[in-house]
Amino acid sequence: MTNREDRSEPAKGRPAPVAVGGATLHPGWLAAAEQAAMVADIRAIAAAAPLFTPLTARGKPMSVRMTSAGRFGWFSDRLGYRYISRHPSGSAWPAIPQSVLSVWTTLVGTGRAPDCCLVNFYSTGARMGLHQDRDEADFGWPVLSISLGDDALFRIGGTTRGGSTRSAWLHSGDVLLLGGEARLAYHGVDRIVAGSSMLLPQGGRINLTLRVVD
Ligand code: SIN
Ligand code: FE2
Repeated sequence: MTNREDRSEPAKGRPAPVAVGGATLHPGWLAAAEQAAMVADIRAIAAAAPLFTPLTARGKPMSVRMTSAGRFGWFSDRLGYRYISRHPSGSAWPAIPQSVLSVWTTLVGTGRAPDCCLVNFYSTGARMGLHQDRDEADFGWPVLSISLGDDALFRIGGTTRGGSTRSAWLHSGDVLLLGGEARLAYHGVDRIVAGSSMLLPQGGRINLTLRVVD
């Protein structure tokens, strides 16, 4: 596997980053072999910390299933959105894999490591409503999002609910950075396209988001 630790420039042939409503999209950041290795690492996380279905604050099950790695995991139920230091089963969250950490190191730097890698699994029909990521203590650090598997129609707006939004497709291997003015942008996923990627044999989409929490 490529060692990216000391790379300051994107590899030759890597498409240039593009702005998506204030966020920065790195299309095709991960090569196919890197995506496959990352999926194997995510499977190990899900084996130790099984996917669960979070509830909205109104008690409605979300369509996305989740788990986490790192010091904190994101959790939601009738008591609200928050980070918790153990999986709902009581086990510690697994460590964030090196394959994932190295994407952060390359694009964000070594100043601080992420505390949480939230793993979202979208099966066909799953979506995520517009929301802000605001359960973290310091919005000075970006949220880094990695897409694996089926294509997703991503939507991003501004920092107030109800403003105009724009849409972009997120493909397997894409990395999106929500930083600066986009750190608190409303964002969500309208739908995924079944069968658009061969990465996951059963189909679906994995989204990883790396966050500095405390
Ligand atoms: C999220 O906002 O937590 C997930 C975004 C995505 O699935 O691309
Ligand atoms: Fe989010």
